[in-house]
Amino acid sequence: MNFNEIYREKKEYIENVLKKYLPEQEGYQKVIMEAMEYSLMAGGKRLRPVLMLETYRLFGGEDRAIEPFLAAIEMIHTYSLVHDDLPAMDNDEYRRGRKTTHIVYGEDMGILAGDALLNYAFETACSAFGAEGADCARIGKALRILAHKAGIYGMIGGQVVDVKESGHKVSGRMLDFIYRLKTSALIESSMMVGAVLAGADEEQVKAMERIAEKIGLAFQIQDDILDVTGTEEVLGKPVHSDEKNEKTTYVTWKGIEEARRDVERLTDEALDELGQFPARDEFLAQLLRSLVSREK
Ligand code: IPE
Ligand code: IPE
Ligand code: MG
Ligand code: MG
Ligand code: MG
Repeated sequence: MNFNEIYREKKEYIENVLKKYLPEQEGYQKVIMEAMEYSLMAGGKRLRPVLMLETYRLFGGEDRAIEPFLAAIEMIHTYSLVHDDLPAMDNDEYRRGRKTTHIVYGEDMGILAGDALLNYAFETACSAFGAEGADCARIGKALRILAHKAGIYGMIGGQVVDVKESGHKVSGRMLDFIYRLKTSALIESSMMVGAVLAGADEEQVKAMERIAEKIGLAFQIQDDILDVTGTEEVLGKPVHSDEKNEKTTYVTWKGIEEARRDVERLTDEALDELGQFPARDEFLAQLLRSLVSREK
């Protein structure tokens, strides 16, 4: 099997896990379960759960104990997108190739669907405690990382500064701060949780955090580039959203060519450090390399 086939298979596995953990659509509040499924099952690269799973495997994790966390990280990421698209934030109407959640379900349900996904992510992750042979200490540590990296010192913190600084010129230093929080944090969370659940030690978890920080930075810079060079059909979301919202990005700061070089350099640095950890196969390294030239 080539890389694309393996990735497709892994994505399918993640999607089955997501379906397994989605709540039943029932009760007077049924519309919120529908909106959760609408946003979560719309597709997307499933990068974060795939990274979590691959890091789990890297440190010898074999079983399915990680499954609730795979679902949880994708729920948190999806909530961040639902809220990111709201009129009060980036005000975008397409996501993952379909109308974004607030366009279909209304702004009120868009807000609540984001809240619901975030909360349900933690309900889902907590279900790991109930599994046979659960390692409660590892699960507790993983939950703490998941919460921390999604919060005010992580993704939410980054979104706050991103939104607050829209329309202003931002220094390179502050831009890096925004990217580390709004984008790297959930990627760090993915790799750290995978490592922790597999029993990696403190140093190894820290190394995953450093690697993921670079991957996240590269990923957001590539996202900025695609906002300028991509098409809505391929991306499944609007282009020129950053210009519309007067955001400072790596593209406005350094220009496309230098931004591209940064994506490559950061990825090389991450791969270098990852190379110290003997892997069972090449997939994780190939995945990280593939992000450099991704078109969506
Ligand atoms: C989009 O994330 C938001 C950013 C952090 C740039 P993805 O590009 O991973 O979106 P999906 O999950 O594939 O839709
Ligand atoms: C969003 O960055 C990062 C999030 C935490 C959602 P962007 O606003 O650039 O993401 P897209 O381009 O809308 O996916
Ligand atoms: Mg945004
Ligand atoms: Mg956006
Ligand atoms: Mg973007």
